[in-house]
Amino acid sequence: TQPKPLAGRHVLVTSGPTIEPIDPVRFITNRSSGKQGHAVAAAAARAGARVTLVSGPVSIPDPKGVDVVRVETAQEMHAAVFAALPADVAVMAAAVSDWRPAEVAREKIKKAAGDPPPLAFVENPDILATLGHDGRRPQVVVGFAAETANVEANAARKLAAKGADYIVANDVSLQGGVFGGDRNSVRVLSAAGIDVWPTLAKDEVAERLIALIAERLG
Ligand code: C5P
Repeated sequence: TQPKPLAGRHVLVTSGPTIEPIDPVRFITNRSSGKQGHAVAAAAARAGARVTLVSGPVSIPDPKGVDVVRVETAQEMHAAVFAALPADVAVMAAAVSDWRPAEVAREKIKKAAGDPPPLAFVENPDILATLGHDGRRPQVVVGFAAETANVEANAARKLAAKGADYIVANDVSLQGGVFGGDRNSVRVLSAAGIDVWPTLAKDEVAERLIALIAERLG
């Protein structure tokens, strides 16, 4: 048998969307399926790592051999990520809601004719950026960048802003079918430059990413 490249390592992965409540029955969320993040967690486990997967609500099964922490909101995800430290590697693949409703109504908001309720938002914590600049920062930090335009320019800006070693950029403009689909077309940015990967199954993107991370860890 081959030696396992991540044996003895702790890998922390976020995956899926977050959901942000408006009232007891309504929430806002996004189109993330969790497939890419879950595939990364599974690949890390196959590589011999202890894996903590902090996941928003998804409809796909838990990956094998992974500790799953289920959360709903960005604030819960933030707390779960920091509670899971220390880690050698963090791969933040969750589609975290950038904003949440400023107030969560205690009772269901009632419909009043001709009078839709105003919604005010506040910003959520940026989990990746916080971790990337933290004293307990894992040795290797990877972020994703789901873009619909200017993919490389936006991803390059994120590399510095988030304190990440790698940003995996993908174009999620809807005709691409990345959200919910099984394949992904990514560009991997680091201080060394940009690497364009062919369109691959999300499992294969995960395998390659884990190989890259293992190499970087040494
Ligand atoms: O800025 P943007 O949301 O495009 O950045 C995407 C990257 O940042 C992803 O890796 C995502 O998991 C992470 N992120 C985060 N917390 C947020 C927003 C994004 O960890 N509040």
